[in-house]
Amino acid sequence: MLASTVLADHEAVSTAAAVSIAARLESKPHALLCLATGATPLRTYEILARHGRAAPCLTRFMKVIKLDEWGGLAMERPGTCETFLRNALVTPLGLDSRYIGFNSNPANPAAECTRVRDWLAANGPIDTAILGLGLNGHLGFNEPDDALQPHAHIATLSPESLRHSMLSNEPERPTFGLTLGMSDLLHARRILLLVTGKAKRDALRRLIQGPITTRFPASFLHLHPEVTLLVDAAAAGRTR
Ligand code: GLP
Repeated sequence: MLASTVLADHEAVSTAAAVSIAARLESKPHALLCLATGATPLRTYEILARHGRAAPCLTRFMKVIKLDEWGGLAMERPGTCETFLRNALVTPLGLDSRYIGFNSNPANPAAECTRVRDWLAANGPIDTAILGLGLNGHLGFNEPDDALQPHAHIATLSPESLRHSMLSNEPERPTFGLTLGMSDLLHARRILLLVTGKAKRDALRRLIQGPITTRFPASFLHLHPEVTLLVDAAAAGRTR
């Protein structure tokens, strides 16, 4: 069973996650981090950026790969994962030369997946993946389905993903997703999964109870030997 650490609230989870990432970077300064976007990890990244600005040696060598992206939106749209990560970490820490991610609006999405796949084959595996849990159990845009994909691929976005808050001010809907695959994530040396808020309560329960099924992709984390699952009291059902 996946063991979770329950902390008081989103701030406590974010602080614990940032401390854990910073400790990892102290022992492995060149670590490749895979970063999810969304409401859950934002505060973690803000705290990490603060640590990095106070002690630049901490983040000087780290590399970052973006977990996923909304396909069909221009890169500079406020709702893209690109804008999110650039604002939260890439620009504050000056990571440009050590950062890679999907172009959100590539002329050839399949070729874009090949580019990211090749980069990860040459520069991976991921050291630490910082992930959030989709309401439907997705990891990145590995959406519930009959089968899951191992590497970077084009995804069909679920209705839940299309309702995600990152898109609430976007006039256009993304027409597809771009995401690292399940094998990419399961080969990360370490996974930090953050789950906060009451809305995630059912998803968290389903994750912890299993079973392992492609209909709930995060359930595959039961197969990984080093998952740190940080949750807040609201997601754990310890508050009303
Ligand atoms: C989005 C993102 C994922 C993210 C997840 C949860 O669709 N593509 O990378 O982890 O959904 O987002 P949130 O933390 O906002 O609940």
